[in-house]
Amino acid sequence: MEYVSSHVEPATGLASGVGLGSGSGFILGIESSCDETAAAVVREGRETLSNIVASQIATHAKFGGVVPELASREHLRNIVPVVRAALDQAGVGLRDLDAIAVTSGPGLAGALLVGISYAKSLAYALGKPLIAVNHLEGHIHAVLLENATAEMGSLEPPILALVVSGGHTNLYLADYVNSLNPGKPAENAGVPGAPRSWHYRNVGKTVDDAAGEAFDKVAKLLGLPYPGGPWIDALAPHGDPKAVPFAFAQVKNKAGKKHPSPEAGGPPPQTLFSFSGIKTAVLRYVETHDLKPSAAARQRALAALPAPKSGDAIALCDAQTLELIASFQHAVVGDLLSKTFRAAGSLHVRSLLVTGGVAANRELRTRFTAEAAARNLPIAFPSLALSTDNAAMIAAAAWPKFVAREFAGPSLNADPSLRLGRE
Ligand code: KG4
Ligand code: ZN
Repeated sequence: MEYVSSHVEPATGLASGVGLGSGSGFILGIESSCDETAAAVVREGRETLSNIVASQIATHAKFGGVVPELASREHLRNIVPVVRAALDQAGVGLRDLDAIAVTSGPGLAGALLVGISYAKSLAYALGKPLIAVNHLEGHIHAVLLENATAEMGSLEPPILALVVSGGHTNLYLADYVNSLNPGKPAENAGVPGAPRSWHYRNVGKTVDDAAGEAFDKVAKLLGLPYPGGPWIDALAPHGDPKAVPFAFAQVKNKAGKKHPSPEAGGPPPQTLFSFSGIKTAVLRYVETHDLKPSAAARQRALAALPAPKSGDAIALCDAQTLELIASFQHAVVGDLLSKTFRAAGSLHVRSLLVTGGVAANRELRTRFTAEAAARNLPIAFPSLALSTDNAAMIAAAAWPKFVAREFAGPSLNADPSLRLGRE
C-alpha cells in the first residue's frame, strides 16, 4: 500500500495562529500499552478523523487476564494494518501529518515497545516530529478532546480528574498554563483554540489493586468472562445493592515526612484508595455461602457459548449471586464517589472528569452525575468508545506538546512505570 498524500489541508487555527508554520494539525496517535492496538488521526486536539482499535480480548479471555508475551505478539501482528486503517478512514496520507504521537508508558514493556519502535521508524522515515505521551494523560485528554467540541462548553480548570481503569486508580489536579509564556497565567485560557500546556499533580492513588482490577477479579471469582467490568455492570441492576454490606476502611497516609501545609506551598493532601480488601471480602462471602460450585458451572456454561451475552449470564445467576454483584459494584462506586468529591471540595476545583475503562460503568456515571449536580460542579465523562484504551486520546494529548515543541528524541524508550505529575 502506498501512502501518498491525497490532499493537504491549508494551515488553520492554532498552528498558523501562533506562528508555528503551516501545519495541517493532523497528528497520528499510536497506543499499545496493554491489550489494545490502536491508531487514530486527530486534528488540533479536537477533531477525530479516525479511531481504530484492534482488541485482543479474545486472545486473553481464555487465560482470564492479559498475558504480556501474547500481547506483544498481537501488537506486532496488528500495528501495520491498524495504522493503515486509521489513515485510510481519515483520508489522510502520511505526508499530511504534522507529527506522530505514541504512548511511552505506563504499561507492559514489550507491548509499549512495539508502538514506540513503529512510531520512531515512521517519524524518522518521514522526517516528522515524534511526541511521547503518558497513557494516563491520554485518558484525561479523551474527555478534553470531546469537551472541546461539546455544546455544553468547556471544563473550567482547575479540574479534578479521576482516572480509573484496569491498571490505575488515580486522582489528578489538572491545570494549564500559557504554553508560549509558561511563567504567565493562561490569560488566553478562554479563547477557543488557544495554546494550552497542561500540568498535573497526583493527589490520589491506590495502595494496592486498581478499581478495574477488582471488577475483573470478582467477575472471575463468580465465573464471568474477562474483562469482568462490563459483565458486572450489566448484571448489577438485577440484584439488591444493599443486600451485602461491604465496608471500606479509611486508608491512612503513612506517618513519615512532615510537609508544610498546602497554603504554605506544601503538597495537597493525598487521597488513598484500596480495593484488595473488598476482593477478599467477596471471596470470603463466596466460600461461606457455598457459591463456588455454581460459579464454576456458570464459567463452563458461558465458555461453551460462541458469543455469550449479558442475558445468558443473568439466566445463569441465582438471586444471591446477583445480590453480591450489585452490592460489590455499589460499594466500589460509593467509595470512588465519596473520596473523589471530598478531594474536589478540599482542593476547590472548578470541574470534574472521570475517565478510563471503569468510567464506562453506568452506576458510576449516574451517581457521579447526580452528586456533581447537587454540588453545582460541572462533570464530564468520555463517550463509551473513548473510555477504554484508544489512540484518539493519545493524539489529542500530543497536540499541546506539538504546539509547545515538546518532541521526543531517538532514544525514547518504554517506561512501564511512568508517572504523571508530581505528588
Ligand atoms: O482503560 P482500560 O481499557 O485499560 C487500562 O488502562 O487498564 O480499562 C480496562 C478496565 C478493565 O478492568 C475493565 O473491566 C474495566 O476497565 N471496565 C469496566 C467497564 N468497562 C470496562 N468496569 C466497570 N464497568 C464497566 N462498564
Ligand atoms: Zn488505559
